[in-house]
Amino acid sequence: MSYYKIDDLEQYFKHYKKSVREPRKFWDKIADENFTWYQKWDKVVEFDMQTADVKWFLNAKVNITKNCIDRHLAKRGEKTAIIFEPNNPKEEARHITYNELYEQVSKWANVLREQGVKKGDRVCIYLPMIPELAFAVLACARIGAVHSVIFAGFSASAVSTRVNDLESKVIITADGGYRGSKSIDLKGIIDEALEKTPSVEKVFVVKRTNSEITMKPGRDQWIQPLLDDALNNNVAEIMDAEDPLFILYTSGSTGKPKGMLHTTAGYMVYSAYTFKNIFQYEENDVYWCTADIGWITGHSYILYGPLLNGATTVIFEGVPSYPDFGRFWEVIDKHKVSQFYTSPTAIRSLAKENSEWVDKYKLTSLKVLASVGEPINEEAWHWYNDHVGKKKAPIADTWWQTETGGIMISPIPFVTPTKPTYATLPLPGVQPVLMDEKRNEIEGNQVVGSLCIKFPWPGMARTIWGDHQRFVDTYFSTFPGKYFTGDGALRDEVGYYRITGRVDDVVIVSGHNLGTAPIEDAINEHPAVAESAIVGFPHAVKGNALYGFIILKEFGETRDRDNLSNEINQFISSHIGPIAKLDKIQFVSGLPKTRSGKIMRRILRKIAEGDFSNFGDTSTLLNPEIVDEIKNGKL
Ligand code: PRX
Repeated sequence: MSYYKIDDLEQYFKHYKKSVREPRKFWDKIADENFTWYQKWDKVVEFDMQTADVKWFLNAKVNITKNCIDRHLAKRGEKTAIIFEPNNPKEEARHITYNELYEQVSKWANVLREQGVKKGDRVCIYLPMIPELAFAVLACARIGAVHSVIFAGFSASAVSTRVNDLESKVIITADGGYRGSKSIDLKGIIDEALEKTPSVEKVFVVKRTNSEITMKPGRDQWIQPLLDDALNNNVAEIMDAEDPLFILYTSGSTGKPKGMLHTTAGYMVYSAYTFKNIFQYEENDVYWCTADIGWITGHSYILYGPLLNGATTVIFEGVPSYPDFGRFWEVIDKHKVSQFYTSPTAIRSLAKENSEWVDKYKLTSLKVLASVGEPINEEAWHWYNDHVGKKKAPIADTWWQTETGGIMISPIPFVTPTKPTYATLPLPGVQPVLMDEKRNEIEGNQVVGSLCIKFPWPGMARTIWGDHQRFVDTYFSTFPGKYFTGDGALRDEVGYYRITGRVDDVVIVSGHNLGTAPIEDAINEHPAVAESAIVGFPHAVKGNALYGFIILKEFGETRDRDNLSNEINQFISSHIGPIAKLDKIQFVSGLPKTRSGKIMRRILRKIAEGDFSNFGDTSTLLNPEIVDEIKNGKL
């Protein structure tokens, strides 16, 4: 019996039980039967959940791109691997076959090797959503370089923080990028970022917008002439199962972003397995995930998961509202998309427009819908179900994280009965538990707690780049021996999970994971600001928005508040990126603090939400009077 694909609920339970009772046998069989290896493993898994040392498929040798590309060539060489749908609908879509993908990735890999990039080197990629982004990522994996894609919406300072953390010598970028009616000066941002990055020796530039840019002699090169001269075949690097594949940053509860490191074999097995089951992909389907490759969703479910399964995957350069609110639906009809994966924020932003924008499209090709990144509220779920899926396409509400590498809890379409707002059941191999405040596991159903995972799974991140202790402290010490997700969840009467939101200082805004600490750090750099505290509050479209409580220095008190607010948001934009801007700013004279000096964010959250009913126990506050002042200031 194969464990790779789940066809019905009975089989799901059977596979699930097997994966818990005999996880080694379960993953051994999946890895053995569905991938191409240079050499198989000596041992399936070795782990210590106290020290957070986890290894899968020990001593196996593999290259993920051989599995994404080469092994499909005999059967699927002329099949489309990537459909590129440009920002401007008048620009023709590109269909890239698996043969062409092999040639492109080979050329890119040869160029990088010739330019001195070696196994283990970290390569930063700052590109718009164009096919070259896929080629660059896969070329790194081909030669064993560790790719780190930096979302092209990040500011220069966010880019330099990441490049410096990685001590990256090579950057791949473009002359610019299109996003709706805007064109973004990516090379200009890189030039600014690289003023503060001593490690960078080479910058390769892809031509996309034909914008005027400056090329720094000795450092910057157009990539095209190099590609033109490169051979179109390439021998892949032989990688150890636990060699790093990529590093992707995520926000944390201190100012410094965490470079989550994923390794080769476990990530490959897990992204492929989860893609196959969640999207129920069949040979002639066209699959589209609207995320950006700068996030984990794009890594696992635009590139690796689909390509590992020989799928046709859409790369979309644009935005849902350009040139109009029907763009997603137009693209679905145009390319006959069968599986569609997007975010609740995108759904809500389109649902608030006239439903004619969606209703005028047929959307008959759709078989499976999915959602990711934040809780999907009931209204958005129904709109998605009624208007997009026409009540025929099951919705997979997929819960997972940058750290988990792949989907962890989700209905399997046509297998698991869905329930709006519920991510439902864990995938085989995933052992979720809910923990109470006393760090005990909560048994039974109809319970609420902190969501942890108690056994390793192949796709999990292995460490934080350069700081294993922080990895242990963040994820494995709150509930010793278990991986702590940072999310709260409830388990209903039948054992379905519903994610209730973050229980730490991370706020999910429009599906973007934002740590409040780095935003506060940015604000506090403004000369007029003495201190600040950021919390999230519910927002109809973005899910959450940011509310800033800000204490000014004495001289700041005389400044015009509107001007100051604008300046503060500008600061945030240039330090982090526009996505972290504050929706509301309230200037206050103090912040509620405990005797140990900790800001009591629970109270600020309630004030930001406009819920003044019960602030809970405030007896440990050093300055309880400030609560009324802040509350009255808001009214
Ligand atoms: O809070 C959860 C939320 O997004 C967090 C992970 O963010 P990130 O690492 O950026 O990865 C996003 C894409 C995988 C989680 O800790 N989240 C993600 N999916 C869901 C969700 N919350 C509720 N329901 C989901 N389906």
